[in-house]
Amino acid sequence: MYIRDLNGCEGKEVMLQGWAANKRDSKGLVFLYLRDGTGMCQCVVALDVVGEEKFNAAKKLTLESSFSITGNVVKDEKQIGGFEIQATDINVISYAEEFPIAKKEHGVDFLMDHRHLWLRSQRQWAIMKIRNRIIFSIHQFFQEDGFVEMDAPIFTGNACEGTSNLFETDYYGDPAYLSQSGQLYGEAMAMAMGKIYTFGPTFRAEKSKTRRHLSEFWMIEPEMAFFDIFQNMDLIENFLRRVVSDVLRDCKNELEIIGRDISVLEQIVKPFPRLTYDEAVRIIKGEQDVNGQNSITSLEDELKTILARIEEVKNEIAEREEKIKTPNMKKGEIGFNQAKIDKLKQEQNDLEEQSRNIPQWLNSARNFEYGNDFGGSDETVITRLFDVPIMVYNWPHEVKAFYLKRDPENSRFARGVDVLAPEGYGEIVGGGERETDENLLREKITEHQLPMAAFEWYLDLRKFGSVPHAGFGLGLERIVTWICKLPHVRESIPFPRMYGRLLP
Ligand code: 4AD
Ligand code: MG
Repeated sequence: MYIRDLNGCEGKEVMLQGWAANKRDSKGLVFLYLRDGTGMCQCVVALDVVGEEKFNAAKKLTLESSFSITGNVVKDEKQIGGFEIQATDINVISYAEEFPIAKKEHGVDFLMDHRHLWLRSQRQWAIMKIRNRIIFSIHQFFQEDGFVEMDAPIFTGNACEGTSNLFETDYYGDPAYLSQSGQLYGEAMAMAMGKIYTFGPTFRAEKSKTRRHLSEFWMIEPEMAFFDIFQNMDLIENFLRRVVSDVLRDCKNELEIIGRDISVLEQIVKPFPRLTYDEAVRIIKGEQDVNGQNSITSLEDELKTILARIEEVKNEIAEREEKIKTPNMKKGEIGFNQAKIDKLKQEQNDLEEQSRNIPQWLNSARNFEYGNDFGGSDETVITRLFDVPIMVYNWPHEVKAFYLKRDPENSRFARGVDVLAPEGYGEIVGGGERETDENLLREKITEHQLPMAAFEWYLDLRKFGSVPHAGFGLGLERIVTWICKLPHVRESIPFPRMYGRLLP
């Protein structure tokens, strides 16, 4: 029996098993919070029901000890989950040593070192449940639309996304690379199946510590024969809408646990603006407004507001700190003020971080050079002006991958598209229409200094019934991070692999 199935079991006796998430006791009673992975449930163990030996065993339970419990299900709206178990029997499975993760605040490094235990906390549990729903939704969307799932190889003999971030391994004495993307193989499979998608791990040896980069991440890469860039954008939009609406419908509890403001996610029903690179650059540089908002002046105004608020917060902290020093102040009032102070200090920290970031964003927006790829700051500057994801397409061909189709209307551009998530999150999807001209591809491969021999098989696709086609790649962790509004991508995957971390 699992906690999530308690509905309808009122008045029945059930057996549950799990871990002690919390415990308190009073005379003759022990209250245990049981966590079983599907939910939480309060269990009451009474001395006069279970007898002294069992009662003492329950009383000795430490945080995260495992146990099984038998008891009657009682409906109780006040309780988490809406039920309570009145125990008739309890068996301890294993007493836990002192659990390293306590209720108090821990630093991120400590939590990451204890990731194997941290995953049990309610917030991490909720994030992983949302991740799971997103994965399921992705498969549902593509399977229902007739796409065939394909598994691309992990060992590859060629680079797909540039040679600067390849993990090299020893493949029977020859170099092989961990796949950066399944796309090239996806293109081959699309010529066999029509519409395919890959869903697998991909690797980038990026020696950068940002809140967006992992060394190992999961990518979903659909590839569609006979699609152009515009059909590709339609598909991306429907796909992202579907994923978000599934999460909103099925993960209400989880979103509440992590404190996600869902009003932003509810906007995703609106159309996603499609901007050319040229328009996006004008917006970033403040040469073009969005709904009456200007990137530069709105950042300047926000900075002023933040600096003013920091002063207010500092003053209030000082006042309250003075207040709790007054003699004869009641304990309750001291506690109340102290809690306020702690909250204000947290706010001050957040505001100060923003006040350091904004000048950097302003700087990169003002100095953006036409023709460059967008950096993290540029993406933040533009997405802050929108409440839904935006699609930026037609990029200068020099800054994008070799396989993107040159725009037939203007050969300076390639038909690539990036989807940038709102709230400052930035790129979650990269994709585009593929070059079909074999000679142009050969030129690009040479220009990118890639070994032609490793791409002959790929070029074959242009010789044997070549068709227009397009596709895209969604970074699973990027979308989980945005949907959950996490401060860093590391919390979006069970065991993150990133620069400087291989354990646990
Ligand atoms: O933009 P990228 O590099 O595009 C490709 O790999 C194409 N082959 C996709 C395609 O058209 N089939 O990566 C696609 C997405 C990014 O938008 C981002 O969401 C994610 O993969 N991504 C990363 N996520 C976490 N850590 C990293 N280091 C990432 N690099 C890319
Ligand atoms: Mg990209």
